[in-house]
Amino acid sequence: ASTASQPSVTSEPIIIAHRGASGHAPEHTLSSYRLAARMHAGYIEIDVQMTKDQKMIAIHDTTLARTTNAESIYPNRAPWRVSDFSLNELKGLDAGSWFDGRFAAERIPTLDEVVNMLKTEHIQTPLYIETKQPGIEAAVVRLLQKKGYLQPGRAMFQSFHPESLQALKVMIPRGIALIQLVGENEACHSDPVKLLQRIAVYADGIGLPISLATKEWVRTAHSLGLIVHIYTVNEPRDLARLCAIGIDGLFTDYPDRPARIGVCR
Ligand code: G3P
Ligand code: CA
Repeated sequence: ASTASQPSVTSEPIIIAHRGASGHAPEHTLSSYRLAARMHAGYIEIDVQMTKDQKMIAIHDTTLARTTNAESIYPNRAPWRVSDFSLNELKGLDAGSWFDGRFAAERIPTLDEVVNMLKTEHIQTPLYIETKQPGIEAAVVRLLQKKGYLQPGRAMFQSFHPESLQALKVMIPRGIALIQLVGENEACHSDPVKLLQRIAVYADGIGLPISLATKEWVRTAHSLGLIVHIYTVNEPRDLARLCAIGIDGLFTDYPDRPARIGVCR
């Protein structure tokens, strides 16, 4: 696998702000991304999906119900699928009150708005983009290229869909890491060595759920040249164990916590 120059296998895992600093502010809002940068996250994670009119937005769920007030604004449009709404319709939704009333002005951001905000506010934190649906790769790459993010150290990519990473592989410069996310189900029903060998053909690393974060998985991945990032690590007690088994990065909703407790020291 890995021709990616970053991140490398080190004893100090990179800290990835999962959906921004989503333990402190509503996930995938400009507030949560700003806060992640202020907390010195190594990367800001962004889940990307397309609207009905093919605009790239930052949102995790495939429906709007949990993180917006879509149910009350559009009562007849159940199940409130993201892909059934235009950007204009989505911009009318409150994407912050579900978390705390202080965030009522938050809107679902487009990927374009996210990178513009980072630039305007001189935030250098790199992006860790998840393609939530295959088929959006070219649009994502075009935007990142235009904004100067398509270079090692400024962005990396992750997906649960192998075909998405394989598509990205031929579109991006060498040195930008591609991370194959592995779900619990898939891992439990696969031979780990065979699974990792398959992944090592096109990816630079794996994203594993914390329930699978064992020495064996890390050792096997490293022996195949794959880096290992773990999702989602919020409990301080997990950090020491994960550092001891040699993980390379972790997704957390609280990017301030690892620094506060001195993650691998
Ligand atoms: O991307 C790592 C982790 O975010 C994968 O899970 O469901 O939070 O996107 P999810
Ligand atoms: Ca994600």
